[in-house]
Amino acid sequence: MNSKIKYDYSYMKSELISDQGFTQNELNEISDQLIKFRERTFVDKSGRPGYMRLPEDMETLAIVEKLAVKYSSKFSTLLVLGIGGSDLGARAVIAALNNPDSGMNVEFLGANTDPDEIKSVLRKIDLKKTAINVISKSGDTIETMSTFIYIRDLLIKEVGYESHKEHIVATTDKSKGTLKTISDKEGYDTLVVPDDVGGRFSVLSPVGLFPIQCAGNNCAELLKGALELSESLIGFDKDKLHKTEIFAALHYLGYLKRSQKIHILIPYSFRLKEFGFWFRQLWAESLGKKDSNLGDEIYVGPTPVAALGATDQHSQFQLYYFGPFDKIITFIDVEDPGHDAFIPDSFPEIDGVSYMSGLSFNKIIRTELAASSMALTERKRANGRLVLPEISAFTIGQLIQFFEITTSYMGELLSINAYDQPGVELGKQNMYALFDRSGFHTRKIELENLTKNFGTDVVE
Ligand code: PA5
Repeated sequence: MNSKIKYDYSYMKSELISDQGFTQNELNEISDQLIKFRERTFVDKSGRPGYMRLPEDMETLAIVEKLAVKYSSKFSTLLVLGIGGSDLGARAVIAALNNPDSGMNVEFLGANTDPDEIKSVLRKIDLKKTAINVISKSGDTIETMSTFIYIRDLLIKEVGYESHKEHIVATTDKSKGTLKTISDKEGYDTLVVPDDVGGRFSVLSPVGLFPIQCAGNNCAELLKGALELSESLIGFDKDKLHKTEIFAALHYLGYLKRSQKIHILIPYSFRLKEFGFWFRQLWAESLGKKDSNLGDEIYVGPTPVAALGATDQHSQFQLYYFGPFDKIITFIDVEDPGHDAFIPDSFPEIDGVSYMSGLSFNKIIRTELAASSMALTERKRANGRLVLPEISAFTIGQLIQFFEITTSYMGELLSINAYDQPGVELGKQNMYALFDRSGFHTRKIELENLTKNFGTDVVE
């Protein structure tokens, strides 16, 4: 079986959706820029962003695999503590690969400081049988660190101070940050988040690899899939656009020329539901920017939406079919889910259900996707389709790399830095200031001045 993912953009063309679609001329106009970017960023390895190195890093993979064996032989549950880029990637891949028969049971906390959520996860696990992977690149994030300190304290009460150290793996910066300081002091096992890889691009670093491997998945295959996608750019025809370039070009053209500012990713697969949330962070944090690379204030960024098929046909599609022409919808179509179930012929005499008899659920869900895509096209709505032959570590690796590379191309076309996140940092600093962390006093005064009138106009 050909296990490469494909991008079908037939329904993005002006021939089918008239002025909502792109023309070949428009695509030609930006091809040169994209191909030059490919050459200097991906083909010439010296210019490539940090995340491109990850699929080749077999040394790190070996470290992760070894540590995963150590912890999975001693514990049945892995509790992952992290937020944003230190959380969403592992969640997405573990849900996609859905490997309940092997590996550790993986639970997540730290992405919210909601006491109800903490309580409900703690109710499910036995800390004596649980390893904890606390993940924070900066090592200071309040959601992660507060949850870690709380759970560590519970763990010490359960197993004692000395033994608690055997339960903890910290994934953080190699030399700085509070989590690194604590880990060194306590002697925890540590894994390193590479300096040149931002949180949302870090799923193929130890940030994602350790929990994914502990869950019983094959990280080597995941990296192989990502590498296959990266390498397909090298040596690719210099007169043609690669699938990642076409995806970026169409989203850029839609954003800039047709006010298609909402970019929806809708997998027709429950296993890929979490993947939509990973994509949403990648697109939003990378592309939502105030300044251009030339220093102008441009305030750009498409709004990503994570949806789920077929569920959202009965929730969102009224808006997608009849609402404003401000969206591009990308379906994810899984050709072979690996298993299926068939509808029995229970009521052959009743027309309302007899036509379903013998159909498989996969046939139904894929037909739902096709029908929705046709209806969108008929109503002149831009929509494309990413096709996965199956959901495997290899195809998910490709999908991750597809979106990360596409994000780099979007950054180039929008002329922004796709790798920083000053807005996220601002939120973190405000929290430190409001809680009187040392070094943030000036910021606290600024915030107090800014919000002097806060709460004066409240209605009951
Ligand atoms: O992508 C990003 O940079 C952010 O979403 C971070 O991953 C998130 O804020 C968590 O940061 P940290 O890993 O430093 O705790």
